[in-house]
Amino acid sequence: MQIAMDGPAGAGKSTIAKRVAKELQITYLDTGAMYRAITKGVMDHGISFHDQKAISQYAKQAVIAFEGNRIFLDGQDVTEAIRTTEVSAHTSDVAPIPEVRSVLVKAQQQIAEGTDVIMDGRDIGSRVLPNADYKFYLDAAVSERAKRRYEELKAKKALEGKTLSDIEADIEKRDYLDSHRKVDPLMCCEDACRIDTTEMSIDQVCARIIELIKDPKDGEAL
Ligand code: DC
Repeated sequence: MQIAMDGPAGAGKSTIAKRVAKELQITYLDTGAMYRAITKGVMDHGISFHDQKAISQYAKQAVIAFEGNRIFLDGQDVTEAIRTTEVSAHTSDVAPIPEVRSVLVKAQQQIAEGTDVIMDGRDIGSRVLPNADYKFYLDAAVSERAKRRYEELKAKKALEGKTLSDIEADIEKRDYLDSHRKVDPLMCCEDACRIDTTEMSIDQVCARIIELIKDPKDGEAL
Protein backbone atom coordinates (compact mmCIF):
# COMPACT_ATOMS: atom_id res chain seq x y z
CA MET A 1 0.00 0.00 0.00
CA GLN A 2 1.27 3.45 -0.91
CA ILE A 3 -0.16 6.62 0.62
CA ALA A 4 0.78 10.12 -0.56
CA MET A 5 0.29 13.07 1.77
CA ASP A 6 0.93 16.55 0.45
CA GLY A 7 0.19 20.05 1.64
CA PRO A 8 1.70 23.35 2.75
CA ALA A 9 3.96 23.92 5.77
CA GLY A 10 2.24 23.50 9.11
CA ALA A 11 -0.86 21.69 7.83
CA GLY A 12 -0.10 18.78 10.18
CA LYS A 13 1.21 16.36 7.56
CA SER A 14 4.08 14.82 9.52
CA THR A 15 2.17 14.42 12.80
CA ILE A 16 -0.76 12.84 10.97
CA ALA A 17 1.36 10.68 8.66
CA LYS A 18 3.36 9.31 11.64
CA ARG A 19 0.12 8.39 13.44
CA VAL A 20 -1.42 6.78 10.36
CA ALA A 21 1.81 4.82 9.77
CA LYS A 22 1.70 3.52 13.34
CA GLU A 23 -1.97 2.61 13.13
CA LEU A 24 -1.57 0.78 9.80
CA GLN A 25 1.88 -0.58 10.73
CA ILE A 26 3.53 0.76 7.60
CA THR A 27 6.71 2.79 6.97
CA TYR A 28 6.65 6.58 7.31
CA LEU A 29 8.94 8.71 5.18
CA ASP A 30 9.40 12.44 5.82
CA THR A 31 10.62 13.72 2.43
CA GLY A 32 10.93 17.31 3.70
CA ALA A 33 13.63 16.04 6.10
CA MET A 34 15.66 14.92 3.05
CA TYR A 35 15.55 18.42 1.47
CA ARG A 36 16.42 19.88 4.86
CA ALA A 37 19.37 17.46 5.25
CA ILE A 38 20.84 18.45 1.87
CA THR A 39 20.44 22.12 2.90
CA LYS A 40 22.30 21.43 6.16
CA GLY A 41 25.09 19.70 4.22
CA VAL A 42 25.36 22.67 1.85
CA MET A 43 25.74 24.99 4.86
CA ASP A 44 28.29 22.72 6.58
CA HIS A 45 30.42 22.54 3.43
CA GLY A 46 30.38 26.31 3.02
CA ILE A 47 28.73 26.05 -0.41
CA SER A 48 27.01 29.25 -1.58
CA PHE A 49 23.23 29.03 -1.96
CA HIS A 50 23.71 30.81 -5.32
CA ASP A 51 25.96 28.01 -6.64
CA GLN A 52 23.40 25.57 -8.05
CA LYS A 53 26.09 23.47 -9.73
CA ALA A 54 28.01 22.88 -6.48
CA ILE A 55 24.76 22.18 -4.61
CA SER A 56 23.74 19.60 -7.25
CA GLN A 57 27.17 17.95 -7.10
CA TYR A 58 26.97 17.77 -3.33
CA ALA A 59 23.42 16.30 -3.45
CA LYS A 60 24.53 13.56 -5.86
CA GLN A 61 27.11 12.19 -3.42
CA ALA A 62 25.47 12.94 -0.07
CA VAL A 63 24.36 9.89 1.90
CA ILE A 64 21.01 10.21 3.68
CA ALA A 65 19.90 7.38 5.96
CA PHE A 66 16.93 6.89 8.28
CA GLU A 67 17.17 4.82 11.47
CA GLY A 68 13.91 4.67 13.37
CA ASN A 69 12.81 8.29 13.65
CA ARG A 70 16.33 9.70 13.29
CA ILE A 71 17.96 11.01 10.11
CA PHE A 72 21.66 10.78 9.30
CA LEU A 73 23.59 12.82 6.77
CA ASP A 74 26.97 11.47 5.68
CA GLY A 75 27.00 9.36 8.87
CA GLN A 76 26.10 12.22 11.22
CA ASP A 77 22.84 12.42 13.18
CA VAL A 78 21.19 15.67 11.98
CA THR A 79 17.67 15.04 13.35
CA GLU A 80 17.56 18.23 15.43
CA ALA A 81 20.00 20.29 13.35
CA ILE A 82 17.72 20.26 10.28
CA ARG A 83 14.86 21.97 12.19
CA THR A 84 16.47 25.37 12.80
CA THR A 85 14.86 28.46 11.24
CA GLU A 86 18.06 28.98 9.20
CA VAL A 87 17.76 25.54 7.59
CA SER A 88 13.99 26.05 7.09
CA ALA A 89 14.59 29.32 5.27
CA HIS A 90 17.43 28.04 3.06
CA THR A 91 15.61 24.83 2.09
CA SER A 92 13.63 27.06 -0.26
CA ASP A 93 16.92 27.80 -2.12
CA VAL A 94 17.80 24.11 -2.44
CA ALA A 95 14.44 22.40 -3.07
CA PRO A 96 13.72 24.10 -6.45
CA ILE A 97 17.00 22.87 -8.03
CA PRO A 98 15.99 20.21 -10.62
CA GLU A 99 19.10 18.01 -10.08
CA VAL A 100 18.53 17.96 -6.31
CA ARG A 101 14.89 16.99 -6.82
CA SER A 102 15.80 14.29 -9.28
CA VAL A 103 18.30 12.69 -6.84
CA LEU A 104 15.86 12.83 -3.90
CA VAL A 105 12.80 11.71 -5.88
CA LYS A 106 14.75 8.64 -7.09
CA ALA A 107 15.82 7.83 -3.53
CA GLN A 108 12.24 8.22 -2.30
CA GLN A 109 10.91 5.95 -5.04
CA GLN A 110 13.54 3.34 -4.16
CA ILE A 111 12.54 3.42 -0.50
CA ALA A 112 8.87 2.96 -1.53
CA GLU A 113 9.57 0.01 -3.83
CA GLY A 114 7.97 -3.15 -2.47
CA THR A 115 7.14 -1.49 0.88
CA ASP A 116 3.88 -0.33 2.41
CA VAL A 117 4.56 3.33 2.97
CA ILE A 118 3.07 6.74 3.77
CA MET A 119 5.15 9.67 2.53
CA ASP A 120 4.62 13.31 3.25
CA GLY A 121 5.89 16.23 1.18
CA ARG A 122 4.81 18.58 -1.60
CA ASP A 123 5.06 16.47 -4.77
CA ILE A 124 4.31 12.97 -3.52
CA GLY A 125 0.98 12.48 -5.30
CA SER A 126 2.07 14.35 -8.43
CA ARG A 127 5.62 13.11 -8.91
CA VAL A 128 7.06 10.62 -6.39
CA LEU A 129 4.13 8.20 -6.14
CA PRO A 130 1.75 9.15 -8.99
CA ASN A 131 0.12 5.70 -8.73
CA ALA A 132 -0.31 5.79 -4.95
CA ASP A 133 -3.33 3.87 -3.68
CA TYR A 134 -4.45 6.87 -1.62
CA LYS A 135 -3.65 10.54 -2.00
CA PHE A 136 -4.40 13.16 0.62
CA TYR A 137 -3.87 16.91 0.52
CA LEU A 138 -3.93 18.49 3.98
CA ASP A 139 -4.56 22.20 4.21
CA ALA A 140 -5.40 24.77 6.90
CA ALA A 141 -5.76 28.55 7.13
CA VAL A 142 -2.35 30.25 7.27
CA SER A 143 -3.15 31.87 10.64
CA GLU A 144 -3.90 28.45 12.13
CA ARG A 145 -0.77 26.89 10.62
CA ALA A 146 1.34 29.72 12.05
CA LYS A 147 -0.26 29.25 15.47
CA ARG A 148 0.54 25.53 15.42
CA ARG A 149 4.16 26.12 14.35
CA TYR A 150 4.53 28.84 17.02
CA GLU A 151 3.30 26.49 19.78
CA GLU A 152 5.53 23.67 18.50
CA LEU A 153 8.66 25.88 18.50
CA LYS A 154 7.73 27.38 21.88
CA ALA A 155 7.40 23.90 23.42
CA LYS A 156 10.83 23.00 22.04
CA LYS A 157 12.24 26.35 23.27
CA ALA A 158 13.28 26.94 19.65
CA LEU A 159 11.51 30.22 18.87
CA GLU A 160 14.85 32.01 18.39
CA GLY A 161 13.12 35.34 19.22
CA LYS A 162 10.44 34.95 16.53
CA THR A 163 6.92 36.28 17.11
CA LEU A 164 3.71 34.71 15.84
CA SER A 165 3.53 37.24 13.00
CA ASP A 166 7.18 36.50 12.00
CA ILE A 167 6.23 32.83 11.74
CA GLU A 168 3.10 33.60 9.73
CA ALA A 169 5.19 35.70 7.32
CA ASP A 170 7.77 32.86 6.99
CA ILE A 171 5.01 30.36 6.24
CA GLU A 172 3.40 32.63 3.64
CA LYS A 173 6.76 33.07 1.93
CA ARG A 174 7.41 29.30 1.89
CA ASP A 175 3.89 28.62 0.58
CA TYR A 176 4.52 31.04 -2.28
CA LEU A 177 7.94 29.58 -3.15
CA ASP A 178 6.75 25.95 -2.85
CA SER A 179 3.73 26.50 -5.08
CA HIS A 180 5.36 28.76 -7.68
CA ARG A 181 8.59 26.87 -8.43
CA LYS A 182 8.99 25.48 -11.96
CA VAL A 183 9.76 21.86 -11.02
CA ASP A 184 7.20 19.79 -9.10
CA PRO A 185 5.44 22.63 -7.29
CA LEU A 186 3.14 22.09 -4.33
CA MET A 187 -0.30 21.22 -5.71
CA CYS A 188 -3.42 19.29 -4.90
CA CYS A 189 -3.73 16.50 -7.49
CA GLU A 190 -7.11 15.97 -9.11
CA ASP A 191 -7.28 12.49 -7.63
CA ALA A 192 -6.36 13.57 -4.09
CA CYS A 193 -8.73 13.92 -1.18
CA ARG A 194 -8.41 17.45 0.22
CA ILE A 195 -8.91 17.82 3.96
CA ASP A 196 -9.10 21.25 5.59
CA THR A 197 -7.71 20.70 9.09
CA THR A 198 -8.24 24.29 10.35
CA GLU A 199 -11.00 23.32 12.74
CA MET A 200 -10.02 19.68 13.26
CA SER A 201 -7.97 18.04 15.98
CA ILE A 202 -5.14 15.63 15.14
CA ASP A 203 -7.32 12.74 16.34
CA GLN A 204 -10.17 13.82 14.07
CA VAL A 205 -7.95 14.09 10.99
CA CYS A 206 -6.37 10.68 11.66
CA ALA A 207 -9.76 9.07 12.19
CA ARG A 208 -11.05 10.59 8.92
CA ILE A 209 -8.04 9.34 6.96
CA ILE A 210 -8.19 5.82 8.40
CA GLU A 211 -11.93 5.75 7.67
CA LEU A 212 -11.33 6.83 4.05
CA ILE A 213 -8.60 4.22 3.61
CA LYS A 214 -10.71 1.43 5.05
CA ASP A 215 -13.89 2.47 3.25
CA PRO A 216 -13.30 4.93 0.40
CA LYS A 217 -16.79 4.52 -1.04
CA ASP A 218 -18.42 7.77 0.03
CA GLY A 219 -17.78 9.79 -3.10
CA GLU A 220 -14.45 11.29 -2.07
CA ALA A 221 -11.75 11.44 -4.75
CA LEU A 222 -9.05 9.00 -3.64
O1 DC B 1 7.81 19.57 5.05
P1 DC B 1 8.98 20.47 5.45
O2 DC B 1 8.55 21.81 5.97
O3 DC B 1 9.94 19.79 6.37
O4 DC B 1 9.77 20.74 4.07
C1 DC B 1 10.93 21.52 4.03
C2 DC B 1 11.06 22.18 2.67
O5 DC B 1 11.31 21.20 1.67
C3 DC B 1 9.85 23.00 2.20
O6 DC B 1 10.24 24.32 1.90
C4 DC B 1 9.39 22.34 0.93
C5 DC B 1 10.47 21.39 0.55
N1 DC B 1 9.94 20.08 0.12
C6 DC B 1 9.81 19.86 -1.22
O7 DC B 1 10.10 20.75 -2.03
N2 DC B 1 9.37 18.65 -1.66
C7 DC B 1 9.03 17.68 -0.78
N3 DC B 1 8.61 16.50 -1.25
C8 DC B 1 9.14 17.91 0.60
C9 DC B 1 9.58 19.15 1.03
